[in-house]
Amino acid sequence: MSSDSGNINVAKPSIVVSGFEEPRGRIADRALFLKKFLAKGRVISSAIPSSRAMVKSVLKHVDFSRPATIVELGAGIGPVTAEIVERIGPHHRFVAVENDPDFCAVLRRRFSGLSILQADATRIAEPLAGLGIRQVDYVLSGLPTSNLPLRALARLRQWLRTALTPDGLFIQITVAPLLYRGLYKRMFESVNYRMVWWNLPPGGVYECSMRTGQNGRSA
Ligand SMILES: C[S@@+](CC[C@H](N)C(=O)[O-])C[C@H]1O[C@@H](n2cnc3c(N)ncnc32)[C@H](O)[C@@H]1O
Repeated sequence: MSSDSGNINVAKPSIVVSGFEEPRGRIADRALFLKKFLAKGRVISSAIPSSRAMVKSVLKHVDFSRPATIVELGAGIGPVTAEIVERIGPHHRFVAVENDPDFCAVLRRRFSGLSILQADATRIAEPLAGLGIRQVDYVLSGLPTSNLPLRALARLRQWLRTALTPDGLFIQITVAPLLYRGLYKRMFESVNYRMVWWNLPPGGVYECSMRTGQNGRSA
């Protein structure tokens, strides 16, 4: 890993488990997610959050034993966020990005001490620079990439080109794998895909890098 070191979080973020949090809070969060999907459709792109199997498939690409800067895009109500928070240590920087204010409120309630950017994930160079982050080792994305407007996609691509470290990884969750393949092939040198059947609907995870033959670095 080669991004600048040090942790922007004063203390390791932690998962808050209050009396309300389990299980009523979680049901309320899921109901909010469904409501947002019904209201915003393609911007949310899925009626329910990622399954445990999907989250596991994302995180198998991250080597938590090494110092790294990790940015999560489109965190939603935090299924991936929770597992990252569980695994990171003082040698990590972690920022979760989400543009929906209600989802950000859920993230703030669930994760104490976590850096959460309420921002458009396709315009995050400046907000991240404000946190002292210019280079990123892992970008974990739940963004509905294929539904993004072309200009937004171009901004995301430009940011990934400048912000990803030379052996950095872009890891994308999808429930529409075929829609994405051509896009990522144009954006990256190396594109790998793994299907995840235990998800509703079934989907998978793309692992992309600017380097050819990136496979070997996955954790
Ligand atoms: C399919 S959901 C994924 C949520 C979560 N990562 C998961 O795996 O369950 C897509 C998320 O991306 C967020 N999103 C969509 N467009 C965004 C944008 N331009 N900037 C930041 N977040 C965005 C949505 O609000 C939603 O939370």
